[in-house]
This record gives sequence, C-alpha cells and structure tokens, in this order.
Amino acid sequence: MVKTVGIGITGGIASYKIADLVSKLKKDDLDVIVMMTEGASKFITPLTLKTLSGREVVTDLWTESLEWKVQHIGVAEQLDLLVIAPATANFIAKMAHGLADDLLSTVVVANTAPVLVVPSMNTNMYNNPIVQDNINTLVNYGYHFMDPDSGVLACGVSGKGRLPEIADIYQQIIALLSPNNDLFGKRIMINAGTTCEDIDPVRFISNRGTGKMGFALAREAAQRGADVILVSGPSPLSAPPNVKHVSVWSAQEMCEIMLKYQSACDVIIGAAAVGDFRIANVAEQKMKKTEDKSRKLTLELVENPDILKELGKRKQDNLIMVGFAAETENVLENARKKLVSKNLDLIVANDVTMEGAGFATDTNIVTLINRAGELVALPKMSKDMVAAAIIDRVVELM
Ligand code: CTP
Repeated sequence: MVKTVGIGITGGIASYKIADLVSKLKKDDLDVIVMMTEGASKFITPLTLKTLSGREVVTDLWTESLEWKVQHIGVAEQLDLLVIAPATANFIAKMAHGLADDLLSTVVVANTAPVLVVPSMNTNMYNNPIVQDNINTLVNYGYHFMDPDSGVLACGVSGKGRLPEIADIYQQIIALLSPNNDLFGKRIMINAGTTCEDIDPVRFISNRGTGKMGFALAREAAQRGADVILVSGPSPLSAPPNVKHVSVWSAQEMCEIMLKYQSACDVIIGAAAVGDFRIANVAEQKMKKTEDKSRKLTLELVENPDILKELGKRKQDNLIMVGFAAETENVLENARKKLVSKNLDLIVANDVTMEGAGFATDTNIVTLINRAGELVALPKMSKDMVAAAIIDRVVELM
C-alpha cells in the first residue's frame, strides 16, 4: 500500500530546501501531503510544493476542503509519518505545549503517526535552554529528532543550526516508514557516556564522553524492537523512550551493574568512555588550600576494572559483544588487539583525532572489524546512522 508522508514546513530560511525533499519522496511513489505555516509561505510559495507533490498544499485551518470533511483531522488520519522540517524554535515550543492554533499545529495534535522533527535556526536560538527543554519534552513523548548540522548560517553566524543534508533527512524518513523489528525479543545492554571518579566530596575526575554514540545505539536498538538496558554515567542527553536507563557515577559502579545483567543479555555494546583510573584514597573531607603556595599535590591513581574484559571473561556461548576502540595512532592494529584481548565479536575503530569523529561531535568516522578480520570502513556520517550500521552488523552476527 502506498504510504503517506505529511511534510510540515515552518517559517525558516531553510524552507526552500524542502522542495528538493518533496521531489525525492515523490520519485519513490510516496503520497506526500505538504502543510505550510503562514511564515513558511513567506519563504517558498505553496505553488512550488503543489507542483512537486501533485497535491493541494494545506495551509489554512479555515479553508473548506473538498477531500476531507474536517480538514486537519482528515489529513492527520491519513499520515503514516509526519515530518516537521525545518522546525523553528516557535513551532517546537508550540508542539511541546500542545498548542493548536493553526493548520499545522492542529494536525500535529490530532496526529497519531510517528513524528520526525528537523530543527533549523540560529545557533544561539538552538542552544537556548528553553528550546532544548522543549526538544527534550518532545523526545520524551517519543518524537524523533535530527540534530542540525554545523556551518555558516544564513544570519552570518557560524555554528550549529543548519538544516541537515536533504539526503540524510530522506534516509531518516525511509527508515521510519519501514520499521524494522529485527531485534524483537532480544535484550541488548549498552553502556554510554563518561564515568566519574571522586577526589573528595566536591571534586572528581572524568573525561570527554557525552553519551551521543551510546544513546544513538540505544535509540536504534529500541526502535528495532529490542529490550534495551542503557547504563550511562552523567550525560546531558535524555534517555530514548522505551529504554531501561540505569544512571551510574563511577567505572566500578558501571561494572557491577553490567555484570549483574550480563546473563540476561543477547548482546552487549560497550560505547562508554570508561575512566581507566580512579583515585587510590578518596579524601573524606574537602581538601583545603594552605598558605604554602609552593606545596605540590599528587593524586595517586589505581586502575579501574576493564568492564568489557570482565564481561568477556564470563561470556556465555551465544552472547554477542561489541566494543569501541578510541585511538589516536595505529588505529586498526590497536583495535584488532582490543577485539581479541576483550573477547569481542565486533570492534568499532575510531580515530578520535579526525575532524568529525570521536567525542561530543554529532558525526563519527568508524571502521567495523569482526573476528575474521573483515573490515567495513564507513564514511563520515551522523552518529544515528553509525548506530544503524553497527546494529545491522550485530543482526548479521546473530
Ligand atoms: N572499556 C571498558 N572498561 C575500561 C576501559 C575501556 O569496558 N576500563 C571499553 C570501552 O567502553 C570500549 C573499549 O573498552 O568499548 C576500548 O576502550 P578504549 O578507551 O579505546 O581502550 P582501553 O581498553 O581503555 O585501552 P587504552 O586506553 O590503553 O587504549
């Protein structure tokens, strides 16, 4: 059956790019209903979208429609997927608060299909904590979001806020339209983010891990039907919906939790930037400064458990284990060594010195290596897409 995609365009400068998206979707024989806010019509004409989609463009709540008895309800009922692109800060706020005061926002409220939101705006607007709170609210309601790209924006500022490439939005739409349940009935445990080691009651050491890669893996696995346990250190990200999230602080705590759940798992993925060392003697009281400014303080460190190695030692027969190798030199060679020493089935080698790879970025550049030594080098892609590629390999291994 032909699937129907609703494309809701809101008033951002990137609106004009959506013409290309609509034309791409039409080439796939999808039914595309374009909806535009008043602001969007200032950037691109409904006539362009009508010509490309082959359908009347829906813009006004009060226009009587020949096709639907009650237009906004009729449109909403027909959708298999609703895409809001570009999504402005204002429209995201309206969605987060359930406002329904124009055609597109009423369709959003009446809609029961999955929603993909593609924000695009000025960097400061995107980073505004109120906008981020609204995004988190929607993520917690199960809305799918694509991170904006970074670059020079129409306002002249350089930073995060550009509409992602149309090819990436298109791919995400196709993935959401053909939900894959290939992990149904499987339990996957993923660790993510950083770990923290106390120095005293107010200080700790940590690292640059943010959880982006691990959270993307958890989201992808849950979308594909897996029962997911996400064990993470502190992270600014919200855990994806439908995931059991266990928050931990230190590497030892993370290790204990993962050993506890290991026997119930079919797959374990170690994406966390686990701290390799902890403080030998954590001070019970806050360490005080002294008058002696020449005093040198030394922190004595001891090694933390290697979580994947511990899990690898106890690996049951049909458990699949995947690890990451964050390297700065001899990437493939070092990754292969880790694959063997941690008893893994697949390792994701990551040259963290490359631009667009590693910690805190929205993209990653990785090479997947299996036990047989086969390599799959992936180009630079979003962490969501890297997550999908890793999960594809896990399914093959199963
Ligand atoms: N890892 C782990 N426990 C640790 C350290 C790392 O489980 N204490 C896991 C990571 O989650 C990752 C893999 O092991 O999946 C490789 O981590 P990486 O930081 O690349 O290497 P290390 O094993 O720490 O070795 P080195 O720091 O010497 O490169």
